[in-house]
Amino acid sequence: NLYEMPKNEPILGYLPGSKEKKELKEKLKELENKVIEIPAIIGGKEIKTGNTKDIFMPHDLTHKIATVHMLGEEEVKMAIESAMNAKKIWDKYTWQDRVSIFRRAAELLSTTWRSTLNAATMMCQSKNVFQAEIDSACELIDFFNFNSYYLTQLYKDQPISPKGIWNRVEYRPLEGFVFAVTPFNFSSIGGNLPTAPAIMGNTVLWKPARTQLYSAYFTMKLLIEAGVPEGVINFLPVSGSIVGEVVLKHPDLAGIHFTGSTGTFQYMWRTVGENISNYKAYPRIVGETGGKDFMVVHKSAEKNEVLTALIRGSFEYQGQKCSALSRAYIPESMWNEIKDELIEKTDNLKMGNPEDFTNFINAVIDKASFDKINSYIKHAKDSSDAEIIAGGKSDDTKGYFIRPTIIKTTNPHFKTMEEEIFGPVLTIYVYSDEKYEETLELCDKTSIYGLTGAVFAKDRNAILLANEKLVNAAGNFYINDKPTGAVVGQQPFGGARASGTNDKAGSAMNLLRWTSMRSVKENF
Ligand code: SER
Repeated sequence: NLYEMPKNEPILGYLPGSKEKKELKEKLKELENKVIEIPAIIGGKEIKTGNTKDIFMPHDLTHKIATVHMLGEEEVKMAIESAMNAKKIWDKYTWQDRVSIFRRAAELLSTTWRSTLNAATMMCQSKNVFQAEIDSACELIDFFNFNSYYLTQLYKDQPISPKGIWNRVEYRPLEGFVFAVTPFNFSSIGGNLPTAPAIMGNTVLWKPARTQLYSAYFTMKLLIEAGVPEGVINFLPVSGSIVGEVVLKHPDLAGIHFTGSTGTFQYMWRTVGENISNYKAYPRIVGETGGKDFMVVHKSAEKNEVLTALIRGSFEYQGQKCSALSRAYIPESMWNEIKDELIEKTDNLKMGNPEDFTNFINAVIDKASFDKINSYIKHAKDSSDAEIIAGGKSDDTKGYFIRPTIIKTTNPHFKTMEEEIFGPVLTIYVYSDEKYEETLELCDKTSIYGLTGAVFAKDRNAILLANEKLVNAAGNFYINDKPTGAVVGQQPFGGARASGTNDKAGSAMNLLRWTSMRSVKENF
């Protein structure tokens, strides 16, 4: 029933001997044995410019998996034209038509496309099987299903109509095209950012991060098979500097759906601001950017829960989730109890290629990330107010591997307590037990971001205090759980402050940014 809240897609286990494991292994083998050619897809047509770039796996730097045709300015202009033309056709689709396409995409991904998307995500983004499954399968299926559901709900409530009058509201698409810019770290965000505006009737230019192009291309193929008409979503392998100039200043730019760095988001916003009188309508700007996600532990917290959250929150997917834990405040009494176990468990995390399903840690995404993360580790090694108590080693001879690293600092404003690193690096500040309230205040003031955060406590008063003091510090706030792993339909996701516009992905609120409502009053 389309009008009922969908259920979350069940997570498959990939246990030895399971059907899904066999299928995924075969798919990995098939894809790893070939080099695919990735064209742009504009107006339903494949465009091969001949200006190519090669894609290698982050964990196996000599293993080429694709060649991508990169676009220039002319093709970007063509894509805008194609999106504007496709509007005429997409306008004729009712919202039910659109819902049925994205429900079909969910169904296809849950069945025939699952192993391809998971294999592609493991290969190009270096994710382990579990992290791929919850991202490129479950979360993306949930985005398609839940956005479809939220759209049905919008139409449920219509305005009141006194006798002789028929009042109604229409959820019209924006007047122009939407520009979707997606990051490397989640294939599901790759799929959601272009499709959420599209389900509301908009046509889209989709620019995935260079390091996501491989899996994004398969997502695009899936959407075409599901029935997204030509030109509704245009797939653009293109560098930011080329696309930015053409798209951001275009009079038909109607919206930006962005996940990525704070710097790029601010650049886009400034460019739109500088050109504000040139657009047909004020562009909608929705962005999710950086984070410096935290965990504050109270002395009443349960030790094992804290240990698990520290490790999973910080090191799953090599700490490259925007929600990843990167600074923790731990009371001295608890620190003395957990530190040895924490170090031991961290040092024992198995690292290697995603093809071996027992590896917890894989490679970080690229050379720039590898160097940036290492520069923070080096800074900690060279500082007198910090010490590295676990990890700290890295090696890029085969792939961009960095051991999960824990820094302990005596300075709550140490660089790695304040700046986003986007890698497997956790910084811990130990506070004296009686300074819980001051620590909450410190945590709130330490970073410019406001994405995710967690408090661990069994004492209800300690939870209440954290709630109050950290009310703006995290758009997704967790009590006795790690700050990662928001589930569509359960925890709408997004942050405020420098972390974004907080238009919660996976909620009706996000969809409402992609519509320009029309109120109609008709007298009988
Ligand atoms: N939704 C993801 C999480 O909560 C981050 O984008 O971990």
